[in-house]
Amino acid sequence: MATRPSSFCLLQNLIVMALAFLILLGATVILPADFLSDKKPSLLPPANFTVTATGLAQVLLRWEPSPDQERRSIKLGYHVKINGPQEDDYETSDTESSRETVLHEGFSASVRTIPWEGHPVRPSGWVTAGLSAPAGAAGTSAVNLTCTANTAASEGTRGRQYRVSLRCSWLPGQASPEDTWYFLYYRYGSQTEECREYGRDVLGRSVAGWFPGTVIPGRGRDLLAVRVNGSSRHAAIRPLDRLFALHAIDQVNPPLNVTAGVEGTRLSVQWDKPISAFPTHCFEYEVKIHNARKGYFQVEKMTTQEFTSTVHGASRYSLQVRAAVSPVCRPAGPWSAWTRPVVVGSDERKPWAEWFLIALAAAVGFLFAFSLIRRASSRCHPWATLFPPVPAPKSHIKDFIVSINYEKSGSGETEVEVMSYAEEQELEVLDDFVF
Ligand SMILES: *[C@@H]1O[C@H](CO)[C@@H](O)[C@H](O)[C@H]1NC(C)=O
Ligand SMILES: *[C@@H]1O[C@H](CO)[C@@H](O)[C@H](O)[C@H]1NC(C)=O
Ligand SMILES: *[C@@H]1O[C@H](CO)[C@@H](O)[C@H](O)[C@H]1NC(C)=O
Repeated sequence: MATRPSSFCLLQNLIVMALAFLILLGATVILPADFLSDKKPSLLPPANFTVTATGLAQVLLRWEPSPDQERRSIKLGYHVKINGPQEDDYETSDTESSRETVLHEGFSASVRTIPWEGHPVRPSGWVTAGLSAPAGAAGTSAVNLTCTANTAASEGTRGRQYRVSLRCSWLPGQASPEDTWYFLYYRYGSQTEECREYGRDVLGRSVAGWFPGTVIPGRGRDLLAVRVNGSSRHAAIRPLDRLFALHAIDQVNPPLNVTAGVEGTRLSVQWDKPISAFPTHCFEYEVKIHNARKGYFQVEKMTTQEFTSTVHGASRYSLQVRAAVSPVCRPAGPWSAWTRPVVVGSDERKPWAEWFLIALAAAVGFLFAFSLIRRASSRCHPWATLFPPVPAPKSHIKDFIVSINYEKSGSGETEVEVMSYAEEQELEVLDDFVF
């Protein structure tokens, strides 16, 4: 039994070795053929390949054709490979290429010369260049960076420029010293701005920044680059870059001029499109209806600027509306804030019902007060003299309970216990009766 697996393994190993031998043999046969077929000189790698940071989260890759490359007979192109932080691969006939990329982890790219118009020439070897990660102690960079943009009002007459406020927040890195101060920058296109208004945490470190009026073209397609770097006397603070698609962080304004009304059983709400670069057909809305009497929320989604509903029974309704740019016009983004509640309708209870409730409340209150006084008077003399107990019903109840228990127990000793129990019980009986 023990020999079978080992002989089986031997057989397996033999097969594997045979296969490896065949592959090696194949390779030695094929490789020279390959070399032979490409005997014509392959292209030469590009010269002077450099990578430079040209802006916040922006690099320029530049190279030159090899000076020794004979170019009269062949048009040259280049194959660019981004190795990190995010892999990418593309071809170009230019000798430079601009990229937007986060740079806090460094950057690396390679380029090689290729024939541009499908000549059967072998591409060159690769040349590689890059940027090293900026200095900084581990765990000092800001984390959880999020931003929201908000288009305020249109600026200029053409209506293509919108004043956008940008707000970002982050958390200090776990290893960031207590005196760390983070700086916030953004770049959109060629414009870079440093933040001037910061929010702080309990230790006084900056954890949020606000740009009240950046000039970002409405419906901008470029990426928004954001950098949080910092300084401290105790450690080098690692920077953090992030690129945002504007649509993903652009929180539209809430709808305007919300009005609502109830007529009979018809509840209607109307509103206007929010201030935005997007036209009317680009919006979708949500209406939140709070039925105050039943205490429930209902949310309705729609693309019109009006909502009507049939309501049954009088109630107060609190209505709020919010907006988002619909996927018809751009990829999904965040919802606006809710508008302030508009309250319509009333809790029209019938008058007799209200009076009944008031009377009931008064009666309950009176009985409660009465029971408290009774309870107090049984323990405290001044109260007892002020409100002398009503003797007849009290003794009556006690007698009744005692006599029953007496009959049941049939012993003198238990009778005493039962009597004291009955005395306590009397007030509780009264309390139970009240509530
Ligand atoms: C590469 O750069 C060096 C120095 O910057 C320069 O002398 C040389 O001409 C450049 N090579 C090419 C092919 O442009
Ligand atoms: C920060 O981000 C990490 C992972 O990205 C997450 O686990 C953590 O809950 C976030 N912290 C806060 C306070 O949002
Ligand atoms: C932070 O980044 C900005 C923009 O890249 C740069 O101008 C500034 O010198 C940096 N500050 C620190 C403290 O690294």
